Amino acid sequence: MAIILGIESSCDETSASICIDGEIKSNIIASQAIHAKYGGVVPELASRAHQQHIIPTVDQAIVQAKIHKNDIDAVAFTRGPGLLGALLVGTSFAKSFALARNIPLIEVNHMQAHILAHFIDDPKPEFPFLCLTVSGGHTQIVLVKDYFEMELLGQTLDDAAGEAFDKTAKILNLPYPGGPLIDKYAKEGNPHAFQLPEPQIENLDFSFSGLKTAILYMVQAQEKINPNFLQEQLADVCASVQSRIVSILLNKLKKAAKLTGVSRIAIAGGVSANSGLRKALLETGDRLGWNVFIPKFEYCTDNAAMIAIAGYQKYLQKSFVAQDVTPLARMHV
Ligand code: KG4
Ligand code: ZN
Repeated sequence: MAIILGIESSCDETSASICIDGEIKSNIIASQAIHAKYGGVVPELASRAHQQHIIPTVDQAIVQAKIHKNDIDAVAFTRGPGLLGALLVGTSFAKSFALARNIPLIEVNHMQAHILAHFIDDPKPEFPFLCLTVSGGHTQIVLVKDYFEMELLGQTLDDAAGEAFDKTAKILNLPYPGGPLIDKYAKEGNPHAFQLPEPQIENLDFSFSGLKTAILYMVQAQEKINPNFLQEQLADVCASVQSRIVSILLNKLKKAAKLTGVSRIAIAGGVSANSGLRKALLETGDRLGWNVFIPKFEYCTDNAAMIAIAGYQKYLQKSFVAQDVTPLARMHV
């Protein structure tokens, strides 16, 4: 039997999870409300909040899994990518825990972990599959050949898809993180109300900064005509923006599927919680004969269950790291 403690602290969620023989027994997430009033994550405040939350979060994960901390066989932690000060908290905790208990230490790449969240529940994708990983910091299309053998086929040249949601929300005077709110208002709106541009990029890369500028200009122009524009047409703006972001993502996925001949298609990362994206992916998958994999909501945004499941695979491979390991703000899949 293998009991893995997973620790996630790369951005603004402190999370701990217990995985027993590949099964997630607990996944505790302490979110940091403090960032909302600043309109984005403040790194210094995130580090402090992680310091505050890490011990109670781990304690709760252990209690909920009905184990004792002495039962844990290895500790897996997010090494990167992410905010360095935030990563340092989880890394230091994991190192201390492993040292004190004399158990192996396992480093996990946060972006790989988002993808490996697909191995928490059934149905699990067979290799190879394509994964669109869309979060607040990344937008990638990855060809997943094995648990830790991944090829980056395309990525954003500027803003991430999550940033496109969050920056649009800021223009619309919505609080951070704006993605879930845009998703909510979009449900009531008309996706064809406003025409927004689709960037013309040849390969599998993405660009979202032009879209953000187009939205800003559109809102400014409309507000000149009607000062109450945003109050009156918020749902239509949200629906139009979401529909454009989703079509940009899906068009690239279609291209990637055609180029690689792979028809097992997965999504991962915070933006994969978006209901418009989930629905459009299912419809496109139906039409094109794809086998579509969508994670449960709780495993889309940052969580330690994905770190623990990735850690479990590394535990089976005896892929451990030494105590001199340090976090990395940048890390490739
Ligand atoms: O993966 P994640 O939790 O953290 C990072 O590693 O970045 O992703 C957070 C991002 C934020 O930009 C947030 O606005 C976006 O995911 N997000 C959503 C939704 N839920 C979270 N975007 C659109 N619709 C949602 N329902
Ligand atoms: Zn993430």
